[in-house]
Amino acid sequence: MFPGQVWDAAAYAATGRFVADLAGDVVELLAPRPGEAILDLGCGDGVLTERLAATGAVMTGVDASAGMVAQARARGLNVQQVSADAMGYAGEFDAMFSNAALHWMPDAKAVLAAVHRALRPGGRFVAEMGGQGNIAAIRTALQAVLSRFGIDAEAAAVSFYPSPAEYRRLLQDAGFTVRSMELIPRPTPLPAGMEAWLSTFRNGVLDLLTPEDRVKAVADTVTLLRPILADADGNWTADYVRLRFAAVRD
Ligand code: BEZ
Repeated sequence: MFPGQVWDAAAYAATGRFVADLAGDVVELLAPRPGEAILDLGCGDGVLTERLAATGAVMTGVDASAGMVAQARARGLNVQQVSADAMGYAGEFDAMFSNAALHWMPDAKAVLAAVHRALRPGGRFVAEMGGQGNIAAIRTALQAVLSRFGIDAEAAAVSFYPSPAEYRRLLQDAGFTVRSMELIPRPTPLPAGMEAWLSTFRNGVLDLLTPEDRVKAVADTVTLLRPILADADGNWTADYVRLRFAAVRD
């Protein structure tokens, strides 16, 4: 994650609701059962956690962002504010679920060790995250524009978009058996447009600029991306690539 990335729950609700709305396939892969204890890792504002709870699963959420945790608790959810690698759970969960969060956690080994500790033996870990090539056009445009301001956007982002082979190895080394692993290009409509996306998901790096430079950098990035990610009617699509997997704790 960008060191200064701030999760504004209101902006996320307006700009990023599609993240939960597009999680149907990974929820299907999880196949939650009534009464199961499931932890939602990086639960954000809890929209998806609440949907999982509606299946009868007993949900716990974990998120590092105070603002997001407050939103999730306002839904009546049981949510802890803690970073994934510092979770203190030990064997109490039947399943661990995560959607669009693991790519914000670059210390994958520490995260997987904590997930392993939290699951009972045989417990499943089912998740979707950004995978290799995720938002490549957006990242390339930002890198080109921000380099003019002396900022290395990729280095600042500390994003983690692994290939299937890399993540399979990490899971196996952490004591999981991989049941499925897929890299899925998923062009994703952005109803609020690219400028709003950049403000919500790239504020950590954009906030390194002065307000005037920030406006210019966003405008230049949008200009670079328009021929690639916007259609003739001005509808934007982000070049998301998902890594979706199911694994079982040995
Ligand atoms: C993602 O879900 O892949 C993602 C979301 C926001 C920023 C970067 C990546």
